[in-house]
Amino acid sequence: MSLPDGVERRTFDGHERLATRGQPVYGEPTDGPWRLWDAGRSKLGAMLELDMDVELDGDDGVLYLGAASGTTVSHVADFAGPTYAVEFAPRPTRDLVEVAEDRPNLFPLLKDARKPETYAHVVESGLDAVVQDVATRGQARVAARNRQFLHDDGRLLAAIKARSEDVTADPDDVFEDVLATLRDAYEVLETARLDRYHDDHLAVVARPRTTD
Ligand SMILES: C[S@@+](CC[C@H](N)C(=O)[O-])C[C@H]1O[C@@H](n2cnc3c(N)ncnc32)[C@H](O)[C@@H]1O
Repeated sequence: MSLPDGVERRTFDGHERLATRGQPVYGEPTDGPWRLWDAGRSKLGAMLELDMDVELDGDDGVLYLGAASGTTVSHVADFAGPTYAVEFAPRPTRDLVEVAEDRPNLFPLLKDARKPETYAHVVESGLDAVVQDVATRGQARVAARNRQFLHDDGRLLAAIKARSEDVTADPDDVFEDVLATLRDAYEVLETARLDRYHDDHLAVVARPRTTD
């Protein structure tokens, strides 16, 4: 599968790794203007390493839910167009604001992803991708509520954390339930377990269901 424009495989320490061009954020190794995108610290990076068809392209408009301190969303902003980063915890959002200082296309929003009505006046609609990594109960509902920001052929790229839904349940059962709820709002195109990089996470690529 081809990588989005602006993402390349480069050699770091003798190994081919993903990289984007931008200011370093989390102490990652660099090679000239390129900085390593560590799939062990990024579910979206893991999706790319696993060759999932995320359909991201350079200059895409992106809404990123669960941005934390900006590890992954900084890489997204390195290659994408307008990138809206929603995070509801104040502490990581402070770091995120710093990450955005040298990325004019990155817009940090201290907001709750379960309440898109609180940022719908800021975030444009017709976006190409919603990337979701919220690690909270009700992950399918968060995705459904934010479907409104995608154009009809946009993509949801979600990392579902089993333990955030139910710490005791078998992850496979949790994923089945989450996918069943997700299918009310989305057509699921591809799923993959991310265990090689992130324990008990399921990656999902989906497209909005249209009502015609
Ligand atoms: C696993 S971390 C995200 C890591 C980040 N995506 C990265 O790769 O750099 C999950 C984040 O989701 C945030 N979060 C959880 N529930 C949220 C909600 N309802 N609205 C916004 N952020 C939320 C948490 O505060 C946490 O920072």
